[in-house]
Amino acid sequence: MSSADTSKIPNSLQEHWMPFTSNKDFKENPRLITGAKGVYLTNHKGKTMIDASSGLFCNPFGHGRKEITEAVAKQLEQLDYCQPFQQGFGGSFELATKIARHTPGNLNRIFYTICGSTAVETAIKISVAYHRAKGDSQRFRFIGRERGYHGMNIGAISVGGMVNNIKTFANILMPGVAHMRHTHLPEHKFVSGQPATGAELADDLERIAVNFGGENIAACIVEPIAGSTGTLVPPKGYLKRLREICDKHGILLIFDEVITGWGRTGSAFASQEFGVTPDIITMAKATTNGVVPMGVVACKEEIYDAVMDASPKGAVELFHGYTYSGIPVAVAAALAVQNIIEKEDMFSRAKEMAPYFQKGLFTLQDIDVVENIRGYGMMGGIDMKMNIKPGKAGFECFKACYEVGVNFKATGDCLIIAPQFICEKKHIDEIIDKLRTGILNYSKNLKN
Ligand SMILES: Cc1ncc(COP(=O)(O)O)c(C=O)c1O
Repeated sequence: MSSADTSKIPNSLQEHWMPFTSNKDFKENPRLITGAKGVYLTNHKGKTMIDASSGLFCNPFGHGRKEITEAVAKQLEQLDYCQPFQQGFGGSFELATKIARHTPGNLNRIFYTICGSTAVETAIKISVAYHRAKGDSQRFRFIGRERGYHGMNIGAISVGGMVNNIKTFANILMPGVAHMRHTHLPEHKFVSGQPATGAELADDLERIAVNFGGENIAACIVEPIAGSTGTLVPPKGYLKRLREICDKHGILLIFDEVITGWGRTGSAFASQEFGVTPDIITMAKATTNGVVPMGVVACKEEIYDAVMDASPKGAVELFHGYTYSGIPVAVAAALAVQNIIEKEDMFSRAKEMAPYFQKGLFTLQDIDVVENIRGYGMMGGIDMKMNIKPGKAGFECFKACYEVGVNFKATGDCLIIAPQFICEKKHIDEIIDKLRTGILNYSKNLKN
């Protein structure tokens, strides 16, 4: 193990079973992050790295925001925890009102969860509860999409469409789920923004509805832009077509905006950016700038009303919730984030910086080992040419980039790039320059 500062490495790395990590590789040569400020991270070797993926799309408003730290500290002193069942505190209501100001249409009823996965699970359960409340109990089927990522619990992996996340658990998936095809077509190679072709892929939903009976389908869930599989941008007209088919069959449309929510596209939600209003939106990550876990489900008023009306007064209307649903520290962080968004006009900042970032990203297409690039707003994906087996190129390239001081997440052979909204042009330049150097270093090693 090579390290300039071994004092930063714990005595044993063996006990912690790390999530989504090649544990054996990591423990031989750990990458420990010791500090974060603004757009920069520091690792245990004392190296400064630029954060090119906002953590895991979590921290678009910058690391180490004092306003959030202070709000959380103050909250902990005043009220550290209160149970969220049959009780509450003012902050969660205040936050719900603020969130509802940003959500599209009348998605004004806000349910708190712990993270993105539990937001998706909750959206699935609310869909079933809504149909049942309306006397439509036969609607139990869910439609997801290939290359979709919705988190890691059983409901979320069932509607998700990434094979490595599913295959070990294939015999315990939720029943009644079908998948539409993903939206990335060969002619979309190196297309920036929304591709002009492919809207007809939404007709997969119609075909599935015809096969199973649209009256048996509870909801269709998609990420407006598939994030974890490398920014698959919806073809022009695709989301509108999905909306029309859902309306025709009475299917709820769920947009999973865990990544696209809170400004990633340049609008508060991708829903507004693409002009399509779903029935339910899930969010997490940037809701608290990533510093305290929190998930949110925003529902149309009629969904809430139907579930309320189906129960007598005094009864619990929805038997669902978490010990950590909207707890005070998460709410305090999220309220501080709302202030930052407002004061610093964060969505406009993202929108203004997006063309500069996209232009920079696409300059990398001349590199030999780059297979494809896609992007929209402040998110992008760089597919690396496969090297021997799937995933190797992405991982090796990530490590080469880490060495030159740019940090991000690689999924399979795709490099996931999502700069913070506080980035200035010089930061975008630094990200792109370091990506070029890192990718070229990776490519040189291939040839030797
Ligand atoms: C679109 C989407 N949905 C859900 C999730 C799951 O969120 P979490 O990891 O907070 O459970 C993610 C995580 O990356 C995501 O990208």
